[in-house]
Amino acid sequence: MLDLRKQSGIPIKLKDNGELYFYNNFAPIEPDIRTFKELKKFINDGKKFTEIKDSEPFYLMYRGIFESSNLRYDITILPPRKIGNEFNKTVGHYHPNKPKTKVAYPEIYEVVSGHALYLLQKNNLKDAILVEAFEGEKVVIPPGYGHVTINLDERPLVMANLLDASFESGYDFYKIHKGGISYIIEDKDSFKVVPNPNYPKKTIPRMARPRDLMLFEIDASRLLFQFQENPEKFFWLSNPEEYLVQLVPQSFFYFK
Ligand SMILES: [Fe+2]
Repeated sequence: MLDLRKQSGIPIKLKDNGELYFYNNFAPIEPDIRTFKELKKFINDGKKFTEIKDSEPFYLMYRGIFESSNLRYDITILPPRKIGNEFNKTVGHYHPNKPKTKVAYPEIYEVVSGHALYLLQKNNLKDAILVEAFEGEKVVIPPGYGHVTINLDERPLVMANLLDASFESGYDFYKIHKGGISYIIEDKDSFKVVPNPNYPKKTIPRMARPRDLMLFEIDASRLLFQFQENPEKFFWLSNPEEYLVQLVPQSFFYFK
């Protein structure tokens, strides 16, 4: 079992079946399991993969491991596997606007272990961004960007996220279009980006890497510790309408 305490700040180990084992009397949390029955709706020709059982789990979400200041800390595990030649991925979603504003809630992710791609797409489809992130790196989803996470590696991807606890994400846009604006496909030892033909326009993602987050005084140490020590640093997650100037892609990404 892979001990992830150092990387995550929580006494957890990753079991071979992709589940978490909580130790040191940490109250265990039951995961929400995303099975193939649901995931296949977000894949081109998902029905053709008849060799995969509907009941097979593709990723696990441990929601609400910590909550404080109306923010919620979750962990998601994406095992290394493929559907055809597409890498395992989350189904993708948009966040709603904060009530009484025209600004959607942002989010912050941290790669706890593994190697991730975050495919972001603006709600008007005028922009898409593909962010590559490694262990310890943090990726901010700016307001108005839907997002899919892809596990590029042969190891499990374990990631944490922090967001406002009061909203529910919307999955319909991704379901209607059978996934995000691009599919991330295996290509020799790397990957290639293939436009999703179910979209009305082709928006080629801009390739990006995460910037540091000193803008919000967030450093390279564990997201959980920073959240527990100083939740006010994450006030912008619940109040994005007060940070419109800062909450833009160029604050968070270097573009290649
Ligand atoms: Fe999200």
